[in-house]
Amino acid sequence: MVIGAGQMGAGIAQVFAQTGFEVKLNDIAEQSLEKGIATIEKNLSRSVKKERITEQEKSDTINNLTTTTNIEDAKDRDLVIEAVVENMDVKTKVFSQLDEITPEHTILASNTSSLPITEIAAVTNRPEKVIGMHFMNPVPVMKLVEIIRGLATSDETYKTIEDATKSLNKTPVEVNDFPGFVSNRVLMPMINEAIYTVYEGVATPESVDEVMKLGMNHPMGPLTLADFIGLDTCLYIMEVLYEGFGDSKYRPCPLLRKYVKAGWLGRKTGRGFYVYDN
Ligand code: NAI
Repeated sequence: MVIGAGQMGAGIAQVFAQTGFEVKLNDIAEQSLEKGIATIEKNLSRSVKKERITEQEKSDTINNLTTTTNIEDAKDRDLVIEAVVENMDVKTKVFSQLDEITPEHTILASNTSSLPITEIAAVTNRPEKVIGMHFMNPVPVMKLVEIIRGLATSDETYKTIEDATKSLNKTPVEVNDFPGFVSNRVLMPMINEAIYTVYEGVATPESVDEVMKLGMNHPMGPLTLADFIGLDTCLYIMEVLYEGFGDSKYRPCPLLRKYVKAGWLGRKTGRGFYVYDN
C-alpha cells in the first residue's frame, strides 16, 4: 500500500504496479486519488506512444492498482510506503495507525525527504521493521532510491527493501539516519542559496537557473527544480536541517517562506518562481 497519492505517492504506486505488485493507493482526499490515477494513466499512455511499454502492460499496470480512502485497508499488506506531507506530526500519526492495523511482519517505509526515520519508528512497536525508502521525483524516471536505516532498523528489513528496490529496476544506496540524509543535505542548501540570490536582487530566477545550467552543467536550474519539488516541501526540509544541525547556514530564505505563505508552491499550484499553465 502507498499512503498519500500526491506527486510522489502516485509515482511510487505506478512503479510497483508496473513491476507486477498488487498495490492499494490511499489518500485522505478522494480528489487526490483521482488526480493520482489520472497522472499514472497519462504517464503510461505516453510510454505506450513512445513504444517503451505495450497496451497490454499498460492495462496490466492499471489492473494492479486499487484506490481507497480507508487506511484500515492496509490490514492485508506486506509493505506500506508512506508518502504524505513532509510533517512529523502527520507522519507519526499515520505510522502509529499503521502499526495497529497491519500484521506483525509488515514493513513500514517512509518516503520522507529529510525527517528522522528513528523518530518515526519510535511511535511504533516494530522499530526494526521501519525504514526510509526515499524515491526521487519523477519516480518512474529516476533510478536512485536512497535507503535510510533508522537506529533500530534490522538487517533483514534492509535486505528486503534493497531487493524490492532492485526488482523495480532502481538502484538502492544505503545511508544512515541524519537530517536530510545525503541527497537533501547537499541539494537543499544549494536551492536555498539560489533563492537568496533572487531575494538579494543579485539576479532574476531565469538568470540564476541559466548560470547553473550552462556553467555547472546541471540539467535543470535550482529554481526550476524547487518549483518541481514543491516549495512547501523545500521549506519543510530546510526547517529540518536548520533545527537538526542548529547551524545558521541552513536558515530558510525569507522569500521561500513568503512564497509558501502565498500558496505559491511551484508546479503543483501553477505558480512558484515561474508561472505554469496547469
Ligand atoms: P504532495 O503534496 O504532492 O502529496 C501529499 C499527499 O498526501 C496529498 O495528496 C495529501 O492529500 C496526502 N495526505 C496528507 N495527509 C494524509 C494522511 N494522513 N493520509 C493519507 N494521505 C494524506 O507531496 P509530495 O511531493 O508527493 O511529497 C510527499 C512526501 O514525499 C513528502 O514526505 C516529501 O518530503 C517526500 N518527497 C518529495 C519529493 C518531491 O520532489 N516532491 C521527492 C522525494 C520525497
